[in-house]
Amino acid sequence: MSTLIVVGAQWGDEGKGKVVDAVAAQADLVARYAGGNNAGHTLVVEGRKVITHLVPSGCLYPGTRCVLGAGMVIDPDVLAAEIAGLQAFGLLQQDELRVSLHAHVIFGFHRELDGMREEAAAKGPRAIGTTRRGIGPAYEAKAARRGIQVRDLFDRATLRARLEQNRDALAPELGRADAISVDALMEAAAGWAAYLEPMVCDASALCHGAIRAGQRVLFEGAQGALLDLDHGTYPYVTSSNTTAGGVCTGIGVGPTAIDAVWGISKAYATRVGAGPFPSRIDGEIGQRLRDVGGEYGATTGRPRDCGWLDLPALRYAARLSGMTGLCITKLDVLAALGHAEVCVAYADGVDPGRDGLFGARPVNRVIEGFDDPQLAVQLASARSWDALPACARAYLDLVAEAVEVPIALVSVGAERDQTIFVRHPFE
Ligand code: IMP
Repeated sequence: MSTLIVVGAQWGDEGKGKVVDAVAAQADLVARYAGGNNAGHTLVVEGRKVITHLVPSGCLYPGTRCVLGAGMVIDPDVLAAEIAGLQAFGLLQQDELRVSLHAHVIFGFHRELDGMREEAAAKGPRAIGTTRRGIGPAYEAKAARRGIQVRDLFDRATLRARLEQNRDALAPELGRADAISVDALMEAAAGWAAYLEPMVCDASALCHGAIRAGQRVLFEGAQGALLDLDHGTYPYVTSSNTTAGGVCTGIGVGPTAIDAVWGISKAYATRVGAGPFPSRIDGEIGQRLRDVGGEYGATTGRPRDCGWLDLPALRYAARLSGMTGLCITKLDVLAALGHAEVCVAYADGVDPGRDGLFGARPVNRVIEGFDDPQLAVQLASARSWDALPACARAYLDLVAEAVEVPIALVSVGAERDQTIFVRHPFE
């Protein structure tokens, strides 16, 4: 087996960065296929916190190549700042990162539109609670066939025509005929082109070549299944396909190239932004979970809503991505609460796929053994499946059985060595 997809199985922020980091140690190439700098991966390496938004988490290993695929939307200034930050840590070599010529570029006016729309919707039912990074407007331009791809940065005539098209299309909403200054953007784009030139590539060919050569390729998801544009809690979703199918379209490889799919879920659940969240916990326990788990957005700093693990939703996510393994993160956090529950069903037989999650009422079960004050400490020091306390193994077995996907990995703390592999990612 040489290809593995790692996807979020909830609403993002599942700890994908940590899992990808652990798996990337064994990969030759790590590719991102969707989203942009709405994602934020927090990694802790030797006590040092590193946050990446665009660059795949695999960048932390010398010699592991990374690529940003066609399905992504890329803000060049953010990319340049992130690369500079990683290089200052000695973490990324210039020749290790490639960018698809077909990825779309986020401009300042995309960010402006994103922010304006969120302000206008304020906290009403139309507010999505986006990250305001211009993600939605950039994908919208792509679907409207006026988006600007990375390759257009190298073709001045096309670029100018496309910018003019955007200026004319967006001026009414932006409220000013000159809201998009084509000349100023042409100048900025020339700088981006010069910067990106050594990195651009045909990402599909790059990944295809690596797969044919028998190399290990890891496809790194962003956000989570329930934020998928087609299958998530629409319209409270992001603007791309976050599920495993996004790899095929976002990279340009066929489904036959995929060997395995690991879905990442926290031992509980979180959501940031608007939209249904059936297993949300209000009050003191929710706040404790937020504080103990550090549940504040890596990209926006927003407090995340917290809830119990939602098994019907996780089962749905497993189906959407054809998961072959489940990775459960932050088990130590759940154990630190002194009381834990899990949502095992919805009342009235609500089905996440057929009915959506809107209005679903959770049926919860208390997780036995999670009231033990020593549990969190015991978990944090476990380094193998057998070393996990019996109640933790029972909880993981219950999850695997409900979702019908075996446990592949368990994370019991933020440090690299607090990752327990139950299965090998590439075997
Ligand atoms: P957008 O992707 O910025 O357009 O935001 C759309 C929705 O997806 C909002 O609810 C965001 O909070 C959510 N979202 C986008 N990226 C992430 C992420 O990486 N983690 C968690 N939520 C996200």
